[in-house]
Parts: sequence; C-alpha cells; structure tokens
Amino acid sequence: MNSLEQLTTAAQADFLAAADAAALENAKARYLGKTGQITELMKGLGKLEPEEKKAQGALINAAKQQIEAALTARRDALADAQLQLRLNAEAIDVTLPGRGRAPGGIHPVMRTWERVEAIFRSIGFDVAAGPEIETDWTNFTALNSPENHPARSMQDTFYIDGNDSTGKPLLLRTHTSPMQVRYARSHQPPIKVIAPGRTYRVDSDATHSPMFHQVEGLWIAKDISFADLKGVYLNFVKAFFETDDLQVRFRPSYFPFTEPSAEIDIAFGSGPLKGRWLEVSGSGQVHPTVVRNFGLDPEEYIGFAFGSGLERLTMLRYGVNDLRLFYEGDLRFLKQFN
Ligand code: DAH
Repeated sequence: MNSLEQLTTAAQADFLAAADAAALENAKARYLGKTGQITELMKGLGKLEPEEKKAQGALINAAKQQIEAALTARRDALADAQLQLRLNAEAIDVTLPGRGRAPGGIHPVMRTWERVEAIFRSIGFDVAAGPEIETDWTNFTALNSPENHPARSMQDTFYIDGNDSTGKPLLLRTHTSPMQVRYARSHQPPIKVIAPGRTYRVDSDATHSPMFHQVEGLWIAKDISFADLKGVYLNFVKAFFETDDLQVRFRPSYFPFTEPSAEIDIAFGSGPLKGRWLEVSGSGQVHPTVVRNFGLDPEEYIGFAFGSGLERLTMLRYGVNDLRLFYEGDLRFLKQFN
C-alpha cells in the first residue's frame, strides 16, 4: 500500500470515528484544511517536473476525491442520526387518550337574541348596539322620565362611581330605551331600528335578575302609526314562536316615553300555555317630547317604540319557568338547547 492509499484509508477511518459534527470538522482539517496533509501534498507538486507533476497530481486528486466523498458520507450519516434522535424524542404516543375538547353551545338567551335580529332584519330593521354605562339624561330625562320618578331611585338603579359632563352620576342602563335616543340623534329619518342588549336593575328573584336582556324597537317616519306597530309585532311573534296559531292584544298602560302606551300580550291557540294571556312587551306611540329630544319635529315625525325582555321570550318559547336557570351555568339545563 503506497502512502497516498494509507492516507486515504486513515482519513476514512478518522471520519468514521468522528462521533459528532465538530469532531468530523476537526478530522477534515487534518486532511483537507489549509495545512492538511492533502493540501500539503498539493503544494509539494510545484517542485516536480511537468511529467511527474501531472502523474502525481492525478493520483493526489483521486485520493482527495475519495476523502471528500468519505467526508460527505459521514456528514450525511451524522445528520441522519441527529434527525433520528429528534424524531424519537418528539415521538407522539398515539395510544394516549385525547385531551377532549367539549363542544360549546349557544346560550338560550343568545339564541333568542340572534333570532330576534334575524327576524327584524328580514323586514328592513337596522340593528344597533350602544353603551351599558349610560348618562342620566339618555337613560331617563330624554325619555321624558320626570326627576322624581321611582325608577331613578337608588333602589332600582345601579349608579356607578363617576359623573357625566353635567355632574350627574353615571349608571348602568335600566332598559334599552336610551338606544332610541342615541340612534335617532345620529341617523336621518326614516328610522327603523332594533337595539338588543344587556340591561341592569337592583332586582333579584325567580322572575328578576340584576342583569337581563331587552330588545328595543323604534320606527319613526312621517306616517308610522299604531297599526304599523300591530302589524310588525304580530309578524314578529308569529315568526319567533313559529306559529300562526296565536293572538296578540294591546292592553292600555303607561310609560313616560310613549303616548298612548300599551302592554303587548300574546295567547297561544294550542300547547301547554294555550289560552293564557302572556305579557311580552311594553310599547306605544313615541311621546312628542321624546321625538323632540331625538332632534326631530313631532309635528312632522311620528312612530312607535317597543321594549321586550329577551329572557321572557326565551322562557315562553322553551317552557322555562325559572329565570335563574339562565344564569347558573348548569350544563344539565344548558345542554338541552344545543
Ligand atoms: N323601557 C321599558 C321597560 O324597560 C319597556 C318599553 C316600554 C320600551 C314601552 C318601549 C316602550 O320602547 O315603548 O320597562
């Protein structure tokens, strides 16, 4: 075996012995580096005669190529081994039980909210949202509620720390009716809108919750009458309860922001609630003072408003008899709606 062959064999053995990439690079330097043995042999060629240089150069080159091939092979082998180690470390045990993401569901009151929106959108109503922290003016005064009205007392209203620009305390809206004012003051008539949302009162029993939901309705134009209210609301309850077998009655009532005012009652022609009059909404023709507070001339503009409880509608639709079930988060109850 000549010295070139020995050199090649030694390099191959060195490379094979290198246990990692760093050791391999060190081994490489010994043969192919700036002062490596192959490099030195190449340098020595310069001193030879042309004929000999050619012959010797070819031999060295062949050895160099063999050594480079051995280097590449070892590099690939080390990289493969590295990858295999990682794959083993990160292996997924498919026999482990899954983490199990339980399916979520829509809360029954939200279901009602969504249905109400869809029904009113289908007859051309816009849908608006507004703040749950309100000013005294928007929640009460603009809606024609007198200063001494009991609804404004601490017993009924959650007041919060902080005043509005007039120095009056801010409050959690007690109804969605302030959205009438906000929407009408920022849109041109005709105004045709519903505003579903959360509302708050100091109240808690089987039929009252401190947080509850209402949907406000408002239609103001030059010629909107109580007849339109009847038509719109009858259409709504028929669509909502998915039956034509139901009657609607308007019972005289009082609200500061409407004149005349009415409670809307419905009665089903069949089913477990058959024949009983059930109150579902307050309503009325918007009071001229309120129309003026919208920034409109009550001689020119007229219309109706209503405010319905979303919990109430949900309870009637599904036959739920205790409001508190909606807020307890009991899955045995909630799962029935999904
Ligand atoms: N805001 C009233 C309440 O919370 C409900 C209501 C009654 C709204 C009559 C109206 C309406 O828009 O016209 O009890």
